[in-house]
This record gives sequence, C-alpha cells and structure tokens, in this order.
Amino acid sequence: MDKLNSAILSYFADIIKKETGIIYSGDNVYQLDIRLNEICRALDLKGLEALYELSLSGGLLGTKKQLLLDTATNNETSFFRDPKIFKAFENYIIPEIQKMGLPGSVRIWSVASSFGQEPYSLSMILQQQSELGKVTKDFEILTTDISQRALERVAAAEYSQLEVQRGLPAMLLVKYFEKIENDYWKLRPEIKNRVKSKHMNLLNIVGVSGVFNAIFCRNVLIYQNEESKKQIVAKLASFLPSGGFFILGAAESLMGISDEFEQVSFESAYFYRKK
Ligand SMILES: C[S@@+](CC[C@H](N)C(=O)[O-])C[C@H]1O[C@@H](n2cnc3c(N)ncnc32)[C@H](O)[C@@H]1O
Repeated sequence: MDKLNSAILSYFADIIKKETGIIYSGDNVYQLDIRLNEICRALDLKGLEALYELSLSGGLLGTKKQLLLDTATNNETSFFRDPKIFKAFENYIIPEIQKMGLPGSVRIWSVASSFGQEPYSLSMILQQQSELGKVTKDFEILTTDISQRALERVAAAEYSQLEVQRGLPAMLLVKYFEKIENDYWKLRPEIKNRVKSKHMNLLNIVGVSGVFNAIFCRNVLIYQNEESKKQIVAKLASFLPSGGFFILGAAESLMGISDEFEQVSFESAYFYRKK
C-alpha cells in the first residue's frame, strides 16, 4: 500500500470513527480499502483519490455520506443467530418478564438490528407464545440501526432463500412467511407489524422513550472502544427497570464496562439482568 493510499484510508477511518465509533485499524484497514472501493464504484468515481477529493471539497454529504456509513458497517446477521439465547428468551426471559408485572405491553429493543433477522426472530417467538397464552400482554419491538440500507431491509421484510435457510426453522418459515417472486420470502403482517424501526446512532441515543423489558445489543459493541462501550451501556441501562434483561453477543461481556448488571444464565446461554 503506498503512502498516499494509506493516508487516505486513515482519513476515512477517522471520519468513520467520529461518526459511528467503528474502529478501522491494523489488519481491518484492508477491509476498509475494499469497502471504500465499493463506494467509488457506486458513485462512479475513478478511485480512492477521487473519493478523497470529493470529501475534501465538502461533496460527501446526505445520501453519499450515508453510503459511506452503510458501507463501513458490518451487517452480518441471521435468523435465531446463537440459538441458545433465543431458547433462553422463550423459556426464561419471557416468563420472568411476565412475573415482573410491569404495566403496559411487553417491550423489547433490538439495538443495531441489521437486516431485521434478530427483531423478527424475537417477534416470531413472542407471537407463538402469545398464541399459546404464555404472553398475556400485548408486545412490541423497537429496532434501530445506523445503516439506512439495513433499515430498508427491515421495512421490506423480504428474505432470500439463502437467508431463510440460515437459522430459520422450516416450521416457522411455513407458518409466518409467504413465498414471493425470485425465490424470496415475505414475512406475514402479524410478525412484521410488531416491529417498529428507527434510524439511530448508538453514539447519540435520542428519540427513544419509555422502559423496555429487554434490550438485545448483540455484536455491535465489539466495534467500539472501551470509553464508548461504557457510555453506550450506561445510556441503554437507563431504559431498563431493575430486573430488566440486557443481552450481548456470544463473544461479548460487560466485564470492566458496567457494574449495573449481574450475569445470569439459562442452560448454556449467558446474559445480564439490571440490579
Ligand atoms: C454485525 S451486525 C449485528 C446484527 C444483530 N444484532 C446480530 O447480532 O445478528 C452490527 C450492526 O450494528 C450496526 N451499527 C454499527 N455501528 C453502529 C452505531 N454506532 N449505531 C447504531 N448501529 C450501529 C451496523 O449497521 C450493523 O447492522
């Protein structure tokens, strides 16, 4: 990598860090290079230097800026990703939420939901439990993400054959999806309409109100530095009552990040409860 190229990459890495908290350094700078070149192709620019000049001249605004943020994010997700957490949600977290007896509906927040597989997996579980009479209240799921492209996928609620094959049990596919053209599957309204989405940056949590019974914050804090992790978790904790649940990705932990929670487990799944 020549000097100019690496200077341009560190210029964009700084912008991305400032806007999203996502850190590109060391080995993953190569990933940034690939992603920025994707933007060049999308904007019909000759290469990184042209993108850099566009940015310096103040031309990287609005949808072009959003394209940069969309491209910088990793949207890897799947239905029922890490199934043991969803099993714990169904068999432990939901019954505990029922016992807590908070007023109003059951409210779950899927922070950084990517293309929607996570909030829709939760919605399917809640719908099934509600059909069985195990969820006695109404329920709603808020889903947020910094990526507009991701939120467009949530709004469409249409998934390819490959996407539904990753983690979605056949029984739920048949029950809650309808096959549409081009081998895509559309989620039925009873699952889709429970999920409300909102564009939101975790570094600037605004416009969310009320209390949630559980917050799923999986596989997103890993991209943040320690200071941002602490601030984000403290802010999210303020939306949980005592006893509310906080769920991280399988490889993540709150150790050294927050002492507002205690770790609990159900079978082999680990998650947190607000003290
Ligand atoms: C790897 S996906 C995780 C999706 C889902 N939670 C899961 O575990 O399957 C990470 C998501 O975090 C979003 N994200 C990254 N930084 C963010 C930020 N600062 N604010 C909000 N969302 C962010 C990305 O757009 C992406 O959709």
